[in-house]
Amino acid sequence: MSDGRRDSSGTWQRDHPWAAVYDRISGDPHLGALLWRVGMGSSVEELHRRARRELAAVPAGGTVLDLPCGGGVVLRDLPVDHALHYVAADISPAMLERTRGEAERLGVAADVETRVADVEQLADADETYDLVLTFTSLHCFPDPEAAVHELARVLRSGGRLVGSAFCVDAGLLYLPGHRIGRALGVLGPPVRSTEVRSWLVAAGLVDVRLDRAGALTYFEGTRA
Ligand SMILES: C[S@@+](CC[C@H](N)C(=O)[O-])C[C@H]1O[C@@H](n2cnc3c(N)ncnc32)[C@H](O)[C@@H]1O
Repeated sequence: MSDGRRDSSGTWQRDHPWAAVYDRISGDPHLGALLWRVGMGSSVEELHRRARRELAAVPAGGTVLDLPCGGGVVLRDLPVDHALHYVAADISPAMLERTRGEAERLGVAADVETRVADVEQLADADETYDLVLTFTSLHCFPDPEAAVHELARVLRSGGRLVGSAFCVDAGLLYLPGHRIGRALGVLGPPVRSTEVRSWLVAAGLVDVRLDRAGALTYFEGTRA
């Protein structure tokens, strides 16, 4: 992985000021949740509902990859007394530091492995994980198709890939947000929900499902 990327991943890797702002918004249940609702046109609770559902379904001893983990927004959804091997990975060392802080705050630091990783080149062997979570992600990656392929590669047969993306076909209302994100350098190329579906299918996922929630398209599939 290069430290000098000049694309959207490089912007996150260098901890652009938006990263700290985003972390505050996504992690705060009051004002942050309100700002999320205004910006995304849906509730952040939708993300947590899906994370809780998927995490609860992983058998004891199962392995989970949360990539990009950002500031650890999903950690609060870990089931109590879970017996999971949970890897929180992100390209940004600063975001991983925030994740470690959140894990300490929640008292789950001993259960969470944090790791610098680039979604385009994961170090994991094929078929490592029972669940891969990739929330609010694909629109931030320079090559979202390659990301889907890599995330599916590390999934076991029968494993689940679940996430969300800010898609340009969500409606005209959200196009200014895309333009601003591109101008700041924190967004990658435009992602369309039809593309997400075809990438998931091409990556070997079945029972693919997409649901729109305001600006976000939630997606899920099972590795054949
Ligand atoms: C909008 S945040 C989403 C974080 C979290 N999943 C959430 O839902 O709040 C996007 C994250 O993608 C990470 N990221 C960007 N490019 C990446 C890459 N190539 N590999 C891994 N993480 C990356 C950023 O550092 C950032 O934490």
